[in-house]
Amino acid sequence: MGAIAPTAIPSTQPLLKAHSLSKSFGGIKAVDRAEIEVHPGSITGLIGPNGAGKTTLFNLLSNFLRPDSGRVMFNGAAIEHLQPHEIAQRGLVRTFQVARVLSKLSVMENMLLAAQNQSGEKFWNVWLNPQRTLQQERQQRELASEILTSVGLFHMAQSYAGSLSGGQRKLLEIARAMMVQPQLVLLDEPAAGVNPTLINQIGDHIRRWNQSGVTFLIIEHNMDVVMSLCDRVWVLAEGRNLASGKPSEVQQNPLVLEAYLGQ
Ligand SMILES: Nc1ncnc2c1ncn2[C@@H]1O[C@H](COP(=O)(O)OP(=O)(O)O)[C@@H](O)[C@H]1O
Ligand SMILES: [Mg+2]
Repeated sequence: MGAIAPTAIPSTQPLLKAHSLSKSFGGIKAVDRAEIEVHPGSITGLIGPNGAGKTTLFNLLSNFLRPDSGRVMFNGAAIEHLQPHEIAQRGLVRTFQVARVLSKLSVMENMLLAAQNQSGEKFWNVWLNPQRTLQQERQQRELASEILTSVGLFHMAQSYAGSLSGGQRKLLEIARAMMVQPQLVLLDEPAAGVNPTLINQIGDHIRRWNQSGVTFLIIEHNMDVVMSLCDRVWVLAEGRNLASGKPSEVQQNPLVLEAYLGQ
């Protein structure tokens, strides 16, 4: 018998893969044939100077914008033709650079509403099967309480979301994304405008969720956050891929340094 055993390591397919994605606004090529891969179980970073196309790329990955061309594969299936709530149902959710919480609703209501929107719940479900709906609502309330407790926001559950600090709103938005028990969460600048103590806490929550099996793709300007959290980083500049690799490699890449210095 040969000494070399067949490899026991399964080839890990990327959980999310974008191929040659492009989007223009008027004459501006915001995203220009961009590629990205997010491997299951990773915390992957997406960095680049202001205006590099990072948020636009997120919008294309989650289908808040339709690409001019290109392909997005999630779990091996094309998703670029699906609606955002259909993508969420498959386990891919995202947050926004400016947290989109409903200030006039309570923190708990924000959590429940998100789950409802993302499950594509229709009012006639309530009418057709009120018992099941009540049971689901109870389960979602329990899940929301659990998540709020885990991020230290449960004591604010009945407060208006508008009464939260900027950082707490960001945290609520991430907590809300966890309501659909996602496989992959895209976070757009989770640390922007957040005080250093809360940044560390948000980092700890992301790490803990990641350890429990959730994969993350994170746009972040704060290099300390990127360095401490990410396994792999993709760099975008002027809509195009500039580099990708381990955070320490990317940080020393002359092309990356140049792109940032040119800001
Ligand atoms: N909805 C839009 N309409 C027109 N131009 C846009 C729109 N969204 C983004 N852009 C432009 O696309 C480029 C990339 O923006 P964005 O994706 O927000 O970059 P980043 O998130 O990396 O800072 C910028 O030049 C920006 O002005
Ligand atoms: Mg942005």
